[in-house]
Amino acid sequence: MAVATIFRQVFHFLSFLCLLSITFSDELQTLLSIKTAFRDSNTRIFDSWEPNTPLCNFSGITCDSNGFVKEIELFNQNLTGLLPLSSFCQLKSLESLSLGKNYLHGPVTEDLNKCFSLKYLDLGINFFSGSFPDISSINGLVYFLMDRSGFSGTFSWNSLRNMTNLQVLSLWDNPFDRTQFPTVILNLTKLNGLYLSNCSIEGNIPDEIGNLVELTELVLSENYLIGEIPRTITKLTKLCELELYFNELTGELPPGFGNLTSLEDFDASRNHLHGNLSEIRFLNKLKSLQLFQNQFSGEVPPELGDFKYLVDLSLYTNKLTGPLPQKLGSWADFIFIDVSENFFTGPIPPDMCKKGTMVAVLMLQNNFTGEIPDAYANCMTLIRFRVGKNRLSGQVPGGIWGLPKAELIDVAKNDLEGPITSDIGKAKSLAQLLLAYNRLNGELPSEISKASSLVSIDLSFNKFLGKIPEEIGELKQLTSLQIQGNAFSGSIPDSLGSCHSINDVNMAKNMLSGSIPPSLGSLPALNFLNLSRNQLSGPIPGTLSSLRLNLLDLSENRLTGQIPDSLLTEANNSSFTGNLGLCNEKIRGFWQCSQQSGVSGHLWMALFCLAFATIAMLASLVAFCYLKKKRQNIGERSLKEDSWDLKPFHVLTFTMDEILDSIKQENLIGKGGSGNVYRVVVGNGKELAVKHIRYTDDRRKIGSSTCILNKRGTKCMEFEAEVQTLSSIRHVNVVKLYCSISGEDSNLLVYEYMPCGSLWDRLHSCNELELDWETRYDIALGAAKGLEYLHHGCDGPVIHRDVKSSNILLDEELKPRIADFGLAKIVQANSMKESTQIIAGTHGYIAPEYAYTNKVNEKSDLYSFGVVLMELVTGKRPIELEFGEDKNIVDWVSGNLKTKESVVRMVDPAIPEVYRESAIKVLKIAILCTARLPTLRPTMRNVVQMVEEAQPRELVRVIE
Ligand SMILES: *[C@@H]1O[C@H](CO)[C@@H](O)[C@H](O)[C@H]1NC(C)=O
Ligand SMILES: *[C@@H]1O[C@H](CO)[C@@H](O)[C@H](O)[C@H]1NC(C)=O
Ligand SMILES: *[C@@H]1O[C@H](CO)[C@@H](O)[C@H](O)[C@H]1NC(C)=O
Ligand SMILES: *[C@@H]1O[C@H](CO)[C@@H](O)[C@H](O)[C@H]1NC(C)=O
Repeated sequence: MAVATIFRQVFHFLSFLCLLSITFSDELQTLLSIKTAFRDSNTRIFDSWEPNTPLCNFSGITCDSNGFVKEIELFNQNLTGLLPLSSFCQLKSLESLSLGKNYLHGPVTEDLNKCFSLKYLDLGINFFSGSFPDISSINGLVYFLMDRSGFSGTFSWNSLRNMTNLQVLSLWDNPFDRTQFPTVILNLTKLNGLYLSNCSIEGNIPDEIGNLVELTELVLSENYLIGEIPRTITKLTKLCELELYFNELTGELPPGFGNLTSLEDFDASRNHLHGNLSEIRFLNKLKSLQLFQNQFSGEVPPELGDFKYLVDLSLYTNKLTGPLPQKLGSWADFIFIDVSENFFTGPIPPDMCKKGTMVAVLMLQNNFTGEIPDAYANCMTLIRFRVGKNRLSGQVPGGIWGLPKAELIDVAKNDLEGPITSDIGKAKSLAQLLLAYNRLNGELPSEISKASSLVSIDLSFNKFLGKIPEEIGELKQLTSLQIQGNAFSGSIPDSLGSCHSINDVNMAKNMLSGSIPPSLGSLPALNFLNLSRNQLSGPIPGTLSSLRLNLLDLSENRLTGQIPDSLLTEANNSSFTGNLGLCNEKIRGFWQCSQQSGVSGHLWMALFCLAFATIAMLASLVAFCYLKKKRQNIGERSLKEDSWDLKPFHVLTFTMDEILDSIKQENLIGKGGSGNVYRVVVGNGKELAVKHIRYTDDRRKIGSSTCILNKRGTKCMEFEAEVQTLSSIRHVNVVKLYCSISGEDSNLLVYEYMPCGSLWDRLHSCNELELDWETRYDIALGAAKGLEYLHHGCDGPVIHRDVKSSNILLDEELKPRIADFGLAKIVQANSMKESTQIIAGTHGYIAPEYAYTNKVNEKSDLYSFGVVLMELVTGKRPIELEFGEDKNIVDWVSGNLKTKESVVRMVDPAIPEVYRESAIKVLKIAILCTARLPTLRPTMRNVVQMVEEAQPRELVRVIE
């Protein structure tokens, strides 16, 4: 028996040893299988995970004292693939599993409960999908991090019920289903970090939040919380960080809020809070205070001026009054203040850049008075300086003009005087200089040409005088030059013709004399030119005909000679009035160039427009709705003298000679920045549209491909390659490109012909044709699909860069096709330096980011398309006088969203009531598309879906 007993004991001991080693080798196998599961990951962490290495020496592995795996640390290791849960949970001693910030996808299943020993679990920042399982078995969790990990659906808050040891719960940025505030959390009294931002929580913040007295960080931002901030929150005296921004909270800061004296970061921005800020006066440890976009009123507590740690203060868009504490920002490394859009008075605090760290001073639209403090002239770190729309007076300290990092200087609409000093030459980063409506004076220093980043200059309505410096032509990035309403004299510098990015020039109401420089005709992006109310003389240069102008105003000058016929299609009636010496046979109200007869201009003008409108109506009644354009008689040498290469992209039913023979004045139907357009009827009766693009002098044919050289001859753009890309585009809502014919100094692109003109013509011009809502809706949807194809089609994104209603052409059935796509890129000549992207868009359609950056992406097209949708719904042009000064259709629409009635009033009255709902839906899409921030705009794919959902109900009924 004894032997048997001993034997049994030995046997047991052996089998225990055996068990141990089996378990160790199991854990090794488990880790190796984890390595295999992640084999496609771009990481080196598994290099040490080899069968002959002790597993406790594996990188990322920590063992307990018995040699079992206790912690796995694989944070930010580029892990890809599915989560091998069953492997992880075989590790019975696993207490810490860190897989955050990887590329894991797929579901996480209930199997996670088998990891029941876990205390620390991090699955955050991954790409999981589906809903997160109930994990109530792991009730020993202390840290549970699952932020931005891709889960959706219902989160099982109840599974947290017994996790009474939980100290950190981080679930932010998961698109869960909407839920009331999860009350189980209120029992987790050991919590010191609770992060529930963007978790779709609605309703009130419960009073019991005051139970969580250990909280140091409470983040409830970006939810749908309503009601008041509970008074019990004042019990959370350990709070360092409180984030309540982007909710619907109402009421005042609760009494006793000042007890939260440990607060360093407090953000309650974008709620509906009101009352005063007196509770804030106790919070002297604050580093960052963000209360923008609320309805707070009263004065800023003077104590804020003594806060020793404050570096970031944002109070914009409230109703705050009184002065700012003068010592504000003078203690710590202050970096940012935005108090715009309040009713603040008194002087600008002088010492916010005392420590030399200030980045942005944003104090727009208040009632600040006094001078701009000299101290800011030495603030070398300053990037944005915006004090526009105040009552500041005195001179702008010279150094401000030359701040080396400043990208934006805005002092517009104040009472400032004095000159722009030559310091401006040092402003190497300056993109926008906004000085309108002051009493600034003196001459514009020629050093402005050294501020080579300038994109936008607005000096309008000041008292500047003297000549516009000739050196202005060196500003290659300049897109907008506004100097109207000053006393500039002398002539318009010829060099302006080398500002190749320029889009918008307004020099109205000055004392400019001399003639209009012909060089303006070579500006490829110019589409807004106002030179009215000056003393300009001489003829209108013929070169202006090659521009693609949306607005041309040369009125009230002393111009003489013939108005070029080619300008008549683009100019409106008043573009030339008040120039007694101008003549033209075709516009009544002007002298006939041969005979000088004097007939009252306005009467003729009215009769003419009436007659023109009548003819246009008749013409459009005829099913064939092409309106023939005027002929011109300027001679052109035969194109056939050149040698030409033809590249077909479709089966052609015409010959190259037929095309070349037809490029003559009588076939000209349009002119634009990208070239002349001819209507060509070939032998078989087929109509074509041929675009003739002339290369500028800088383009030369090199080898087999036409290249565009820049001035130094270094860069070369493959014109043909670009055209080739366009040729592969095939979609019913995109104009078909038949072929490209390239010659020595020009290129012909042969397109299908669209007989019914453009959407702009149908909506806005004299020959407008009533478009019913169903037709407009079809145009919106078709055009959206065309653009979607360009953006998301198989050949990678083709960015249009010039989306507008005049680039949406209509076929016989009024079906839309996108025209001129990608041309902007081809046509941009001369300026091939990477940093100078030509802004190709059209005034009124240009996305706001163009003002800040030269980067063009699809989202800029989205903005322009939003403007087109607004035109369709409202029937208005992108720019109309009724919108007010400097306002466009986007401003007008966003200003009319306050009431239901005002929204309905925006809809074109020609749209019958039954369709209003559909029209308003489309208007909403337009608003999304025109969001100021590009990232907030939808993709064209989303837009197509949304437009489909806005289908007019009448139409649905007919189909059913
Ligand atoms: C993850 O991938 C990036 C890009 O390939 C690489 O730079 C980085 O070093 C990788 N990280 C690790 C931890 O291997
Ligand atoms: C919590 O624990 C109690 C008792 O220990 C148990 O009855 C209950 O089922 C647990 N709840 C959850 C959600 O696991
Ligand atoms: C909180 O805990 C108490 C007592 O432990 C319990 O009675 C109550 O139901 C719990 N509340 C929630 C919301 O779980
Ligand atoms: C802080 O709380 C105490 C007790 O709750 C209260 O008496 C006191 O007035 C509060 N302090 C402030 C600054 O509100």
